[in-house]
Amino acid sequence: MLNALYPAARNILFKIDAEKAHHLSMSGLRLMEKTGLLGLMTAETKAQPVTIAGVTFPNPVGLAAGLDKEANTIDALGRLGFGHIEVGTLTPKPQPGNEGPRLFRLPEHQALINRMGFNNPGIEEGIENANQSSSFKGVLGINIGKNKTTPNEQALDDYAIAFEKAYPHADYITANFSSPNTPGLRDLQSSETAARLLETLKNIQAKHDRHVPIALKVAPDLNDEQIEGLAKVFRDGGLDILIATNTTIERAAVEGHPVAQEAGGLSGAPLTQHSTEVISSFHQVMKNDVPIIGAGGIFSAADALAKKEAGASLVQLYTGFVYQGPTLIHEICRQWI
Ligand SMILES: Cc1cc2nc3c(=O)[nH]c(=O)nc-3n(C[C@H](O)[C@H](O)[C@H](O)COP(=O)(O)O)c2cc1C
Repeated sequence: MLNALYPAARNILFKIDAEKAHHLSMSGLRLMEKTGLLGLMTAETKAQPVTIAGVTFPNPVGLAAGLDKEANTIDALGRLGFGHIEVGTLTPKPQPGNEGPRLFRLPEHQALINRMGFNNPGIEEGIENANQSSSFKGVLGINIGKNKTTPNEQALDDYAIAFEKAYPHADYITANFSSPNTPGLRDLQSSETAARLLETLKNIQAKHDRHVPIALKVAPDLNDEQIEGLAKVFRDGGLDILIATNTTIERAAVEGHPVAQEAGGLSGAPLTQHSTEVISSFHQVMKNDVPIIGAGGIFSAADALAKKEAGASLVQLYTGFVYQGPTLIHEICRQWI
């Protein structure tokens, strides 16, 4: 029933400012979950579970990071059918993010541009919020990043702090070092720094009895040489999961659109094919040593299956979910074999 109502809800939401619409939908979802209405309006997702890195995901479709930055809407989003939910990005200290407006729609291209800048309540409050969730039985990923005010030379400390804090509460933890909206963050994607980041997190992981997989999330804006270098680092360093990809700083596909030149990361349909190619390039080097979660412009089961074909074991949605609603989750689950 919710699936049938979504197009009408979207038409209304798309008439108001994008960030306001986001907050309105999230609080609406929380209210509907609390009152039991959401449970009455949704059906369970039928799908085969997928196991990667020792974690069993109830279905192949997850929510990409950045939608539930505060980790306070997990139960409602789980009710819509997501098998895993990645909350965050959460940084060691709370931070307000960039000044608005910072989220733009490009409906003609089924795309978004955002320069949110890791607005989040901080890792501690984020975890407190996540711990309040009760009905969600899927996999919880906690996505971590560094504070804007932390210089890049100390970035690894921020990841280590957030990783330690998230560890007891997560089913997997993603270090996001590929957002275009924290100045200098993507510089951490050099092979040397990536190796040091992975080693830092692996050392913390080794000290714990429970194995919580480490995921790293990469940008789509990497050349072949960079991909090959990183893929070798990930394979040789024992990375548990790769998430590919984040948003792009490329604008060629949306040139001429009134907001095309807004600074930030472009997501959605203009990214579909390129992120699939990036997945394929990483997979060629890492083979099955490092499982991949594919993200970037998934708007149909065919888009998801193309990512699977390229080497992804699971997929995540953000922009496609905003444009199409929860139907998309069920459609992919049905066709994923
Ligand atoms: C508004 C917005 C905010 C985002 N915030 C984050 C974030 O905080 N952390 C992160 O790792 N990725 C973030 N992303 C990137 C998404 O998780 C995803 O990797 C990217 O948008 C590509 O997928 P899509 O085309 O399905 O949106 C954000 C994306 C959008 C559109």
